[in-house]
Amino acid sequence: QPQQTWSQRFEGSLHPAIEVFNASIGFDIQLIEYDLTGSQAHAKMLAKQGIISESEATQLVDGLAQIRAEHRAGTFHPTIADEDVHFAVENRLTEICGAIGKKLHTGRSRNDQVGTDTRLYLRDQIGQIRVALRAYQAALVSHAEQHVETLIPGYTHLQRAQPISLAHHLLAYTEMAERDWQRLGDVLKRVNISPLGAGALAGTTFPIDRHYSAELLGFEDVYRNSLDAVSDRDFAVEFLAAASLIMAHLSRISEEVIFWASQEFSFVKLTDACATGSSIMPQKKNPDVPELVRGKVGRVYGHLQAMLTVIKGLPLAYNKDFQEDKEGLFDAVKTVNACLEAMTILFNEGLEFKPQRLAEAVAEDFSNATDVADYLATKGVPFREAYNLVGKVVRTSLAANKLLKDLTIEEWQALHPAFEPDIYEAIAPRQVVAARNSFGGTGFEQVREALQIVKSRLN
Ligand code: ARG
Repeated sequence: QPQQTWSQRFEGSLHPAIEVFNASIGFDIQLIEYDLTGSQAHAKMLAKQGIISESEATQLVDGLAQIRAEHRAGTFHPTIADEDVHFAVENRLTEICGAIGKKLHTGRSRNDQVGTDTRLYLRDQIGQIRVALRAYQAALVSHAEQHVETLIPGYTHLQRAQPISLAHHLLAYTEMAERDWQRLGDVLKRVNISPLGAGALAGTTFPIDRHYSAELLGFEDVYRNSLDAVSDRDFAVEFLAAASLIMAHLSRISEEVIFWASQEFSFVKLTDACATGSSIMPQKKNPDVPELVRGKVGRVYGHLQAMLTVIKGLPLAYNKDFQEDKEGLFDAVKTVNACLEAMTILFNEGLEFKPQRLAEAVAEDFSNATDVADYLATKGVPFREAYNLVGKVVRTSLAANKLLKDLTIEEWQALHPAFEPDIYEAIAPRQVVAARNSFGGTGFEQVREALQIVKSRLN
């Protein structure tokens, strides 16, 4: 019957169901690499400060390295009786190093230890997610490059508004991803602070050097207040908020891909790499990837809400509630990574735009009506007056089942004498897009410049 690390203080033994209920080893084993790294730094710091000897530190560091090798080889199997990853490592270290293994926890608590592990984990994951965001941006850019002069209807209220460059539309999403990338960088500043050495809550009687262990672990700074150090989970909330926004952005583009792939829109064709069929309807080709991404958003939002709720009203300092910070965090990391990867594959090889169909789409509506009003305004007609006049033209044309391009020059001039034959050129879709050359607009010149900037960020 293995004994708990703390069993000497107890007379009875833990109820088996409570032992299971209490244990976090089932999920915090994911922190093991960080736990080992953190413990190695702690051991080196103890030796540097003369709290343990150099040879003891060497044995601890080597023993921890052996556990890392065992874990990687798949031969390290902690049990529920170990309770959590921290005890599991310490127990194994004591098996390996004997009594010296028991010196590792000098001047430290699991409270500052778990905070250290979680931050090291998140720092790594943020780095990986930022790389994944770059790959996703690159996938969008590869389409944008081909489609600067491909037009697509632009919408407001999902009603045809003004035609735009397809590249401009895609680059809107690379901009969102850019902010997501930056936001993670901001979060990283507050993740990368060391709580190690805060002890259980109050610091320690040993002459430790917190700055030294922080430096060994690549932390930018140390927490200034030991109570705050062991009970701060703000950094996890911030990460989950940033992750939630990534998911929000991915779900918006997902929604667009889903309707673009519908027969009603038919703006994209799904390749076989990312679409699936139906068990009953032989003709179906379903956009499962964007649907799943859209569907997974709720998990990440949920984890954000859960984390905010965990910390609400908690008294200082550590409370076991904090053990609930991990599973949501791990799942959010996994979900964001998986969704970014899937969307990258979708854009790299899962869909093709249909330029022919897009060209038809932009030619078949009244989304050039603003340009007629602008045309008159350039000729000195006050914009609001021009706008009213064009509104009337749209109404009568709709009744006559005509588009603006079908009106004869006599009809135009009957509406207003300022119309000249160049009105046809002014309302041609390509011209309508090219003319919106204001900074950040959809004009081809603007889009080409924007594309260059986006590409330079990727390199
Ligand atoms: N497994 C614990 C957690 O995840 C580690 C810290 C335990 N500390 C304590 N005082 N019980 O939060």
